[in-house]
Amino acid sequence: MTTTLPPSTDNSALQDAANRHLFVGMTNPAQLAEEGGPLVMDSAEGVYVTAMDGKKYIDGISGMYFRNAGHGREEIARAVYEQLSRISMNVYAGATPATIQLAAKLAEITPGDLTRTFFCQGGSEANESSLKMAQAYHMRRGDKGRYKVISRKGSYHGSTYGTMWLGGHPGFPRTDYQPRPANVVTVPGPHAYRCEFGSSSPEECGELSAKAIEEAILFEGPESVSAVIGEPVSQPLGGVIPPSNYWPLVREICDRYGVVLIFDEVITGFGRLGEWFGADFVGVTPDIMSFAKGITSGYFPVGGSIATAEIADVFSGGPDKTWSHMYTYSAHPGGAAAALANLAIVEREGLVDNARARGEQLAERLAEMKEKHPMVGDVRGAGLIQGIEFVADRKTKQHFDPSLKVNARLTEKLIARGVWIRVPAYIVPIAPPLVITADELDELATAIDESLGEVEKELGV
Ligand SMILES: Cc1ncc(COP(=O)(O)O)c(C=O)c1O
Repeated sequence: MTTTLPPSTDNSALQDAANRHLFVGMTNPAQLAEEGGPLVMDSAEGVYVTAMDGKKYIDGISGMYFRNAGHGREEIARAVYEQLSRISMNVYAGATPATIQLAAKLAEITPGDLTRTFFCQGGSEANESSLKMAQAYHMRRGDKGRYKVISRKGSYHGSTYGTMWLGGHPGFPRTDYQPRPANVVTVPGPHAYRCEFGSSSPEECGELSAKAIEEAILFEGPESVSAVIGEPVSQPLGGVIPPSNYWPLVREICDRYGVVLIFDEVITGFGRLGEWFGADFVGVTPDIMSFAKGITSGYFPVGGSIATAEIADVFSGGPDKTWSHMYTYSAHPGGAAAALANLAIVEREGLVDNARARGEQLAERLAEMKEKHPMVGDVRGAGLIQGIEFVADRKTKQHFDPSLKVNARLTEKLIARGVWIRVPAYIVPIAPPLVITADELDELATAIDESLGEVEKELGV
């Protein structure tokens, strides 16, 4: 096919070429073309991104929940440059100083006795690795029938074939991809605003949601269940904080039936909740933790799975103990250098504490919006992972008719006010970089508040 390379400074030529040649994740080329094309970004600094057409936006969800240390960090870029200039990749069965240091750093900052890390390139691969590790762990211990995985509705664990079928939420339909793997078991999530058990209090919802996991284990047969996987706080439905009794009960249940507990900390890891990890936030340590995104703030694709010594040690000993699992680019030193530089920034600038403080400020603003706007059904979250659920009727909690395109209306109003948040389904997700200042957070919250008001006016709410 003949085509011309668009000049890197020509916004409309780039958008035009993108409309013809590029898949932009989770979007549809015809729809994007109707909007002109994808937002082509030119530069970014702190919480702001500047598009090729010169417009500046607050990055309202940190790219895709990864830009913890903010945009434009030359320090991280330089660390990657220096690393790649010296040694750009491992040899087979080798390691590099940066990767070893990063593994040691993770053992230091993660809770409990999480100690040995397998590195990969992103969150889906991390969860695949964690699930494979859990199953292989049972096999090596002679527990050969454990292959089922329990996950919760409302969760998202990735896009690979295995991880895609875990959890589930309205923004990620899986109708094109059949069949559903036979080892996947799905239970309700601990979502107090819409508790599937019709419970009268968050605690009751927490208890019943944890019990649903126990019932699934007993129904499937404990000897067939390998792992329970969940995000300590899940994002797809907008910062769903589980009732405080939920994870301690799930931990007890997993221990009772010999099931491995995997935390997917791909979003919650590295400060987003105002604690280093979601595990710290909910006060429960998993057996395996998957991570990605915030470990490098997105400056290099890195993910991984860190396991307790009890799990990791079964893969050590004679040759038959080896864990047969790898990716070509596992433990990339460029990624490790990015992660070490990024974590140094998070520590030096106190970004975990900032996430907590700005999170409290955001929660106050959201509570005010709930008072003021009838379309706000619920506001929830903690730290810098929060969300608004909008509803047509507060009492029934019914959502707006999709034909009203309330999400598209809100997206348009937000973008017009210089906030880059694409609103999915019926949730406004809010997760800016952890470097956000009090003034910037006010600017973001005011834009959301005004956008809600304008949409309510249009809808006659
Ligand atoms: C909680 C969670 N787990 C896993 C993933 C998948 O990560 P990746 O897109 O890096 O494969 C994501 C991505 O958004 C996520 O939010």
